[in-house]
Amino acid sequence: MTMTLFDRWMSTIRTRTVAFIAIVLAIAVTAVSCSGGGGTTAQSSPGIAPELVADYIHTVLAADRTAYTKHVVNRAKMLEGKAKDDGVLAIEATEGWQQTNGIPLPAQMFRLGSEISNESGYFTYNLISPWYINDSHAPKGEFEEAAVEEMIETGEPVKDYQEIGDQTFFSAMYPDKAVAEACVSCHNTHPVHLERYPDKQFVMDEVMGGIVINIPLAGA
Ligand code: HEC
Repeated sequence: MTMTLFDRWMSTIRTRTVAFIAIVLAIAVTAVSCSGGGGTTAQSSPGIAPELVADYIHTVLAADRTAYTKHVVNRAKMLEGKAKDDGVLAIEATEGWQQTNGIPLPAQMFRLGSEISNESGYFTYNLISPWYINDSHAPKGEFEEAAVEEMIETGEPVKDYQEIGDQTFFSAMYPDKAVAEACVSCHNTHPVHLERYPDKQFVMDEVMGGIVINIPLAGA
């Protein structure tokens, strides 16, 4: 059987239409899978796992805090009223830095950064502790209250999903340990600590609190 001109013409149109539809579909799928990128929520799939995102953020936060402690605070001649032998800069790192023209303590520097970053709406982070000096560091909500106990008991990070209102978050809490004698001595002798937790004396390597990171998830 031979094809008429009309048949051949129809066949060409069908092939082209199928190809055209395939291209349109491909563009539509690409558009859908890219449209979440610019928003304020993470894609659960096929992007980076939220657990890994939290680990990345934590790595940067911990590194910045250590770098500030090591390369700025440690070079000050005074730390909270006490002279430092290895200090080279005529400044004092002190909680009352705004009143005394000093520089903030590492925990305060961390909080100042978090207050700015949290305004971005992408994710939030915060320091928490059951033995908090600053009230804004009290564990809040079901996840933080349960996770802080587990983290102190195991010394390991705790990660979970939590619902706040209509929004699902991936939340992770990482232990903040007494890695230097200064952590222990400053907290143990702080007037607010002595008043609130007279029976609590930190020891080296103990979990003193944690860093909490909350990442909002899209359509989860
Ligand atoms: C010279 C004093 C001093 C030193 C040293 C110090 N801290 Fe703090 N820390 C504070 C103060 C003051 C706050 C409250 C800061 C604020 O107002 O945000 C704080 C806050 C914290 C918090 C949040 C809970 C709270 O108490 O509000 C944690 C956790 C913490 N520090 C852990 C550590 C660790 C770990 C180290 C050592 C690596 C350390 N600190 C070193 C004074 C100190």
